[in-house]
Amino acid sequence: MTAATRGPYGNAEFDSRQFRTAMGQFCTGVTVITTLDEAGGPVGFACQSFAALSLDPPLVLFCPMKTSRSWKVIEKTGKFCVNVLSNHQQDVSAVFGAPGDDKFRTISWDPSPAGLPVLRHSLTWVECDVEQVTDGGDHHIVVGRALTLGEVLQDKPLLFYRGGYLSTEHPHVTPAQAELENFLTWTGGDTWL
Ligand SMILES: Cc1cc2nc3c(=O)[nH]c(=O)nc-3n(C[C@H](O)[C@H](O)[C@H](O)COP(=O)(O)O)c2cc1C
Repeated sequence: MTAATRGPYGNAEFDSRQFRTAMGQFCTGVTVITTLDEAGGPVGFACQSFAALSLDPPLVLFCPMKTSRSWKVIEKTGKFCVNVLSNHQQDVSAVFGAPGDDKFRTISWDPSPAGLPVLRHSLTWVECDVEQVTDGGDHHIVVGRALTLGEVLQDKPLLFYRGGYLSTEHPHVTPAQAELENFLTWTGGDTWL
């Protein structure tokens, strides 16, 4: 059998380190998902597993670890705010990506219409109600309904790739292929988010 007909070998006996390495090839943005606890204190955590899910109705999703302390608060309040980080906010990602009792001590924020923390200098934000929670192994899959959108800043995004931070060289965005027109985050027309 030649290489062309055999196809790639693959590895069906991978460990979690190899799984992490493979999944780390998928570049994402970085968000900080926030809410307010019962005493009115701000809480939040860094989250790369965020995605736009549906245009009509407007839905998003994110996946918190089952051990996440912020998730336990969001689960109670049923509300969260997704802050999309810019490339100036690497330090913000580091603060919210580690455990801490007072993550907001050095962070400037303003309240959203529902009072949830909007981090200053984020590219944009979206305030949501929890709509559905599904099991996702050691994570939950949380679907949220978008209620309010923040303004959009013209800045570069913070990217997460191979376990480290990355920024685009140029603020210039290369247009996607025409056949991507039906994708959810297409901004060339009015079809995709
Ligand atoms: C760039 C980055 C992305 C992350 N993405 C996620 C994620 O998608 N889901 C998750 O549960 N934790 C993620 N984390 C880890 C949490 O932010 C981290 O475990 C944090 O301490 C959780 O805080 P909490 O327990 O206060 O909620 C990420 C961390 C970083 C730095």
